[in-house]
Amino acid sequence: MCGITGCVLKEGPAAPLIHESLKRLEYRGYDSCGEATVDGGRLYIKKDRGTIDEVHRRLNLDDLPGRLGIGHTRWATHGAPTRVNAHPHVDCDMQIAVVHNGIIENFAELRMELEELGHKFRSKTDTEVVPHLVEEYMRNGMDFVDACREAIKRLRGSYALAILHAGESRIVCARRESPLVLGVGEDGVYFASDIPAFLPYTNRVVFIEDGEMVVVTEEGYEIRRISDWTPIERRPQLIEWSVEMAERRGYPHFMLKEIHEQPACLRNTLRLREEYLELMTKFLDRAEELFLVACGTSYHACLAASYLFSKLACKSSHPVIASEFIQNYGRALGIGSTILAVSQSGETADTLSAVAYARDKAATILGITNVVGSTLTRLARVYICQQSGPEIGVAATKTYTSQLSVLTQLAIRLGMVRGKIGHVEGEELVDWLWRIPGKVEEVLASQEGRVMELARKYAGSERFLFFGGGINLATAMEGRLKLLEISYIPSLAYARVEDYLLGFVDGATTAVFVCPNTNSGKRLIDDMTLIRDYGVSILALVEEGDDEVHEVADEVIELPHMPLEELTPIPYIVPLQLLAYYISVERGLNPDKPRNLAKSVTVK
Ligand code: G6P
Repeated sequence: MCGITGCVLKEGPAAPLIHESLKRLEYRGYDSCGEATVDGGRLYIKKDRGTIDEVHRRLNLDDLPGRLGIGHTRWATHGAPTRVNAHPHVDCDMQIAVVHNGIIENFAELRMELEELGHKFRSKTDTEVVPHLVEEYMRNGMDFVDACREAIKRLRGSYALAILHAGESRIVCARRESPLVLGVGEDGVYFASDIPAFLPYTNRVVFIEDGEMVVVTEEGYEIRRISDWTPIERRPQLIEWSVEMAERRGYPHFMLKEIHEQPACLRNTLRLREEYLELMTKFLDRAEELFLVACGTSYHACLAASYLFSKLACKSSHPVIASEFIQNYGRALGIGSTILAVSQSGETADTLSAVAYARDKAATILGITNVVGSTLTRLARVYICQQSGPEIGVAATKTYTSQLSVLTQLAIRLGMVRGKIGHVEGEELVDWLWRIPGKVEEVLASQEGRVMELARKYAGSERFLFFGGGINLATAMEGRLKLLEISYIPSLAYARVEDYLLGFVDGATTAVFVCPNTNSGKRLIDDMTLIRDYGVSILALVEEGDDEVHEVADEVIELPHMPLEELTPIPYIVPLQLLAYYISVERGLNPDKPRNLAKSVTVK
């Protein structure tokens, strides 16, 4: 996730305003940033790695001349956070500057085509193809706006783009899947990935839709559909949010906002670069002995991965909580060992100690993280960035489902490489993975109200038990962790109802069963009946239309059909994240700021 912004003002310098807007978008990314403005037919650019404050201290982002410009704050996904990879990116002649949020899937082929035509690239980013494409079309005689349109038509993937030209007093923006909004003020027109960027200057907002391009001038804006160039009339609407509320896009807490961001984050994980997935699959395949090492939520992703690797690829692995690793597995490590460390922050002290120890023992280190440039990315032989964007809520939500998505993709590839999954089956599975973001959207749309109702009803429970069999043991454990982290209600998670649990349950206990329509799910029906006799309230996550569970459970939350148990953990965790969130709110707590917990535990 990155943030883009910019403006065309009637008067006065744009740069200080863009700088302020970037500060308000910093929650979208903060490993590097930059600005470009136009004045007197010249393009001015400043950019560097570091937070906005650091870059401003070094370069002064406020003294670029001109009344129009663009800005970017980055969260690296393609290419390390370095000065050359920071946005804006320019064409060969430094006439065109571009900022971008999203992932251009076909950038490699476009880059090759443009290099053959003589274009010189400076960065490793996918974005840089855009200024060169526009330049190419302009060289062939098109005017700026037509060239932008033709260039944008060539892009596959996701983007919110802003394009500036040294000889123009207008800026072209476009959107597909990544957010883009305009702000229409008295002093000019603003645009950004998100409303807080320009909210102090105007609250008159126009939302740009997928497949639309906008030409922004000091007087106004013209929206057109890119495909057939139809003009689109859309009037500004008034936004009554405070800046603080707008940063959470109107959600009362970051955690809820991030739960709702999951469909978009999951789509990002499906656009990972082939070569990284391929390379990591190769290392996983060759591993004589494979350890999956992580803490907390990331450990639950590892636990799910051990089922995925085993069931889809017949590859056994050991999921280990990082703090347990050195003591218990250290002596066994050697050149044949491979450690796949999973850490959204890439900085968790226990995970890094395990990794450093294993590296000293000549083990191969692989990493999955959300932060390019984190210590884990420096220690790993190969790493994959899970592309979730910064997560502010302390309780991990979107980073967990993104990790699951990356790990499922790896398991499918591993299965294919090892000859355990045929081509057709592999393609079907990947096809299903692409449907998961839509399924999560369905779950959010259809079940959130229901979960709120249940949270109200069960928030007073004295204890919770979570049950999930097969791969959904990870779902049960993660559901329990969410509730513990933000509601402090004593909770346990198990695969099945064990007899000794019956000794302390009663009417003040709520049991949550993760029951997809699979063998492991069905096995839980008897357990439900058993525990219900002790007065426990039964809440079950079931596939829609599954009447068998309906009869036994007190309450059900319905989930869409998934063809395979291995694909259920992503949609099934979503209602449990919501349940923890709404119970926390019901109990008058702040889910964004759990007691005694920090986002990243960097000390042991
Ligand atoms: C700590 C936190 C957990 C978090 C875990 C892993 O244990 O309390 O909430 O899930 O670290 O964090 P990571 O950044 O490594 O994924």
